[in-house]
Amino acid sequence: MSDLAGKKVLLGVCGGISAYKVAELARLLVKAGADVKVMMTESGQKFVTPLTFRTLTGNPVATTLWSDPGSPFPHISMSDEADLIVVAPATANIIAKMAGGVADDLLSTTLLAVKSPVLVAPAMNTRMYLHPATRDNMRTLRQRGVVFVEPGDGSLACGDDGLGRMAEPSQIFEAVTRELERSRALEGRTVVITAGPTREHLDPVRFISNPSTGKMGHTLADRAAKRAADVVLISGPTELDCPAGVTLVRVVSADDMSKAVKENLPGADVLVMAAAVADFKPAAVSPTKIKKTDGIPEIDFVPAEDILKSVSKSRGNCLLVGFAAETDNVILNAKAKLVAKKLDLIVANQVDSPGTGFGTDTDLAAVIASESDDVRLSMISKVELADWILDRISDLLSVSR
Ligand SMILES: Cc1cc2nc3c(=O)[nH]c(=O)nc-3n(C[C@H](O)[C@H](O)[C@H](O)COP(=O)(O)O)c2cc1C
Repeated sequence: MSDLAGKKVLLGVCGGISAYKVAELARLLVKAGADVKVMMTESGQKFVTPLTFRTLTGNPVATTLWSDPGSPFPHISMSDEADLIVVAPATANIIAKMAGGVADDLLSTTLLAVKSPVLVAPAMNTRMYLHPATRDNMRTLRQRGVVFVEPGDGSLACGDDGLGRMAEPSQIFEAVTRELERSRALEGRTVVITAGPTREHLDPVRFISNPSTGKMGHTLADRAAKRAADVVLISGPTELDCPAGVTLVRVVSADDMSKAVKENLPGADVLVMAAAVADFKPAAVSPTKIKKTDGIPEIDFVPAEDILKSVSKSRGNCLLVGFAAETDNVILNAKAKLVAKKLDLIVANQVDSPGTGFGTDTDLAAVIASESDDVRLSMISKVELADWILDRISDLLSVSR
């Protein structure tokens, strides 16, 4: 059994028949050394009494926003102290409330004030689980980084047979252990991430650029910070806010980005080049606005610096991760880039299919570590892709430690 000593787990129990199985989950967590606090919805208490969880965990069970003698703000104090929040069984109702940002009881309010990772184990009748509203809500939550322990197929309490049966307590326990490990996986590591487009100015008011929105790099920075890494995000111009706990360096051109990468590389454990850096730039930048009345200008272009190539000589032990945005032979082209640029990982990304590429929330992508990797492109959210990449990075770092 894994050691969860010192870990604080907040267990949210909702109103489904499988609430009784969550008593076993609480027991497994306590046995592994976790400090488990339980929060029950009003419906949850109709299925199992707070006394059951009070007895199993040794902690008082929180049931209301209004009368906790320990804290006037139980939703803030309990979300603050948790290393992980687990919602099990997660009803269709709590999933909808989480997706919609509804805060009308203690558990939903706590889930809105959350800082820690959230693990959700849905349990419900098949029709409720497959209802488009529930599917949409789960998709929304996945895109925000909520991790689901998927329900299984089997006989349900309502007498039906089908999908919606809560994962077994042992499976949820394993997922808890995995998430808690993940949340500290990059502790003490410095991760430098580039994001967004660059702008290559022709004159003070005109530039060439590309449609990159910076979503991938910002998502990676957010997820790396959630794994306790020290994150430096070097971002070209985007509309996005800096993720919490991340140091943001704003740049404009490929030259600026190169300079910022080189300044931040010493001491970094990982460089992830998720930015869409210009491949070429105007040979000269006019210091004043090019006048329309002077006719159509002839502009010469020169190659912009290949940042990955130029830093690969001075990388030391820093892992290098590149992206290959491709429209054809995606995996083949990505593998060629992996080898040519001596990268540790490359993310192959098909950018010309519906729902993929610039500005989307999903990607058709694969993470490749070597020429011989047998991989396929999968359609996944940017958050999931960021987690895949960071899982691979954590594995590579733990081998090199
Ligand atoms: C006997 C019974 C069993 C239920 N089981 C479930 C369930 O497994 N999953 C679910 O989403 N809702 C289930 N419900 C409905 C929820 O209890 C109801 O939607 C409630 O509002 C959920 O509140 P909560 O999310 O605050 O706990 C059940 C209701 C009853 C009466």
